[in-house]
Formats: sequence, structure tokens, C-alpha cells
Amino acid sequence: MKTLTVGLQERAYAIQIGGGLLDRAGELIAAVSAPAMAVVLTDDHVWALYGKRLETALGDLPHRVLVLPHGEQTKCVDQYARCLSFCAESGLSRGDLLLAFGGGVIGDLAGFVAATYMRGVRFVQIPTTLLAQVDSAVGGKTAIDLPEGKNLVGAFHQPSLVIADTDLLQSLPPREQAGGMAEVIKYGALFDATFFELLEAHPTWEAATPLLDEIVYRCCDLKRQVVEQDERDNGARQLLNFGHTYGHAIEAIGGYSAYVHGEGVALGMVLAAKVGIFQNITPIGTDDRLESLCDSFGLPMTERFAAEALNAHLALDKKRDKQTLRLVLLRNIGESFLHAVTLEEAYALTEEIVHAD
Ligand code: NAD
Ligand code: GLY
Repeated sequence: MKTLTVGLQERAYAIQIGGGLLDRAGELIAAVSAPAMAVVLTDDHVWALYGKRLETALGDLPHRVLVLPHGEQTKCVDQYARCLSFCAESGLSRGDLLLAFGGGVIGDLAGFVAATYMRGVRFVQIPTTLLAQVDSAVGGKTAIDLPEGKNLVGAFHQPSLVIADTDLLQSLPPREQAGGMAEVIKYGALFDATFFELLEAHPTWEAATPLLDEIVYRCCDLKRQVVEQDERDNGARQLLNFGHTYGHAIEAIGGYSAYVHGEGVALGMVLAAKVGIFQNITPIGTDDRLESLCDSFGLPMTERFAAEALNAHLALDKKRDKQTLRLVLLRNIGESFLHAVTLEEAYALTEEIVHAD
């Protein structure tokens, strides 16, 4: 087991990473809190695969379980209200604990329930997807979606503990494994050339599997540093959006069903590298390096999009500040910075990179 501590003063917490940790969940939770009871929020896939093991691991901690449908549509107001009622019916009180047992959907929803039920209760993240282990379970962003857009309602609420059992990642569908790898590649591209090279040396799920503890640890350590510097997302944390400006546009073009999030991010990272190259900031060939690594992890890198379609969605980017977009660009693999452009400039850049391709 590897341990990291997210150093946020009174909101500091540990991230425990390793194979087999699910079976030690009760003991790890007992080390950080002594609740009278717990409510577990999970989804049907995760519960069918791992529910019995979590229940055994919780031992004599009284708990009630709400199994929600899997998928992004569960991050909605109706399921949020259902979770709140379930907590109230279960008698969950301020000193008790909520457990988020699933991928980013369950983590974001359960986190928002924890942030708001009784004005805030403690919660533990037990992330079961690669994306959740390296990204969404760490850093305290919680949210649900509205019909008007994703993640429009939420709160910053840090967990009390993150338990990342890397063995659970083997049962993920291959597309979810590859999608999570896009976020892993993102950390290397943003902050750590040596880590990027490690991935290039192990460029398939099978080759990377023996390194999963190290991979999850390295990503969480990089995210920890960013969150400690900018918990509320006013500066450095926005670097984590590398590939997301075009990635969100691509997800939207696909009607949020054709591409999983990581697929959009992978394609978006290559487009962001092309923007940097066009501006003589990013070294030539960086786009090819990113594309080749994403491709070997099974991400759909041959997809192409019309500039008009991408631009139509750039204007809707939530991270936009009036007429300015903050693009994340690379000075090199491992060196990133925020680059503000007007919407008009962003439209022109999209035209250039798409037509040059
Ligand atoms: P997800 O939670 O929908 O999980 C993907 C699928 O994998 C689901 O069908 C799930 O049931 C299944 N699954 C989960 N664990 C499994 C396992 N071990 N074995 C087999 N199947 C398993 O999706 P996700 O990609 O984990 O998360 C996406 C969500 O995360 C989005 O809503 C996104 O907005 C959010 N997110 C949040 C943050 C943040 O900082 N809070 C960051 C990135 C993404
Ligand atoms: N996933 C982006 C963030 O946590 O800020």
C-alpha cells in the first residue's frame, strides 16, 4: 500500500493506493473516523461485482446501501433528492459517514450529497474506475448535472479518505480503461516528462498493468500538489483542463454518447498540441507523440471533426470568462501553462489546425 496526504490543513486527508485495499476498507475507515453508522452510495455494476466484499470489509459497522443505476444520467437532481431522502430515512447524522463506492458519477453525486446533507457530513471515496482513482475522487469537486449542462450544481467538499484499490480496475470495460489512461497521459503531458516516457515504454493496458499502483500514485501525487496550491480552481488547477476545451466540444458533438470522456480528452489533447505548434510554442511532433501514445492505449485517434462544429461548442465552454478562453498549452511534454485567447482567436486557431491536418 502507498499513502499520500493531501495537505489542506483542517481538511487534510490520506489517499491509500494498492491492490486488495477494498478488503481492508473497514480498518482504513476506522483509522480516520468512528461513525455510528454509514450510508453507502453505489451503482448497480459496481455493487454486483464488489458489493459483498465491501460489506464483509465493513465488518460490524452498521450500514445501509443505496444502489443507483449506472451512467451519467444518475448525476441528476432526482437521484440527488433520492439520496438525501435515503440518508434521512437511514438516520444518518452529522457524526456518521457517507461512502462513495463507484466511478466518477457516484463520487461526484455522493460528494455533493455529503456536502449538503445536514449542511455537510464526512465522506470517504472508494473509487472503482481509473478516471476516478487518478482524478475525480481527489480534490473535492462534487457536482450533479442539470438538463442545461453538466456539473452545473456542485460544491467543493473534500473527502476524509480515499481508498483506491487498483485490482478493481481489471474488471473495467476496455473503453473505460483506455478513457482513464487518457487522463493518466494528461498528467505526464502537463507536469512530468519522465512519467510520460514511462507510459511510452509501457503503451498498452497489459504492459501498464504491473505499474498501476505506481501510475495511480504518481497521478494522485501530481493532482495533490495542484489542489494544495489552488483548491478552489482559480489558477493552477485549471491546467488540469488540458485537452478538455476541445474534448468537451467533441463529447457534445457525439451527443454525450458516441465518446466516453477520456476519448474526448485524448482527441482534445492532440488538438491543443496542434494549437501550440501553430503558435510556435509547442515543439513540432508533440501532437504525434500524444496521438501515438493515446492510440496504443486504444483511444480512437483517427476521428476528425469540422472546425465549425468544434467552434460552435467552444462558445459554450463553462470555463470561458466573457469573451476569453483559457487554453492549456504545452511548452514541452511535462511543461504546461494557461494561455488566454479571445473567442475570435480561438475560432481562427481551430480553423488553422483543422485545415492543416
Ligand atoms: P462512471 O462512474 O460512469 O463509470 C463508468 C462505468 O464503469 C459505469 O458503467 C460503472 O458502473 C462502471 N464501473 C465502475 N467501476 C467498475 C469496475 N471496477 N469494474 C467494472 N465496471 C465498473 O464514469 P467515470 O468515468 O468513472 O466518471 C465520469 C464522471 O466523473 C463524469 O460525471 C465526470 O463529470 C466526473 N468527473 C469528475 C471530476 C471531479 O474532479 N470531480 C473529474 C473528472 C470527471
Ligand atoms: N478534474 C479537474 C479538477 O479536479 O480540477
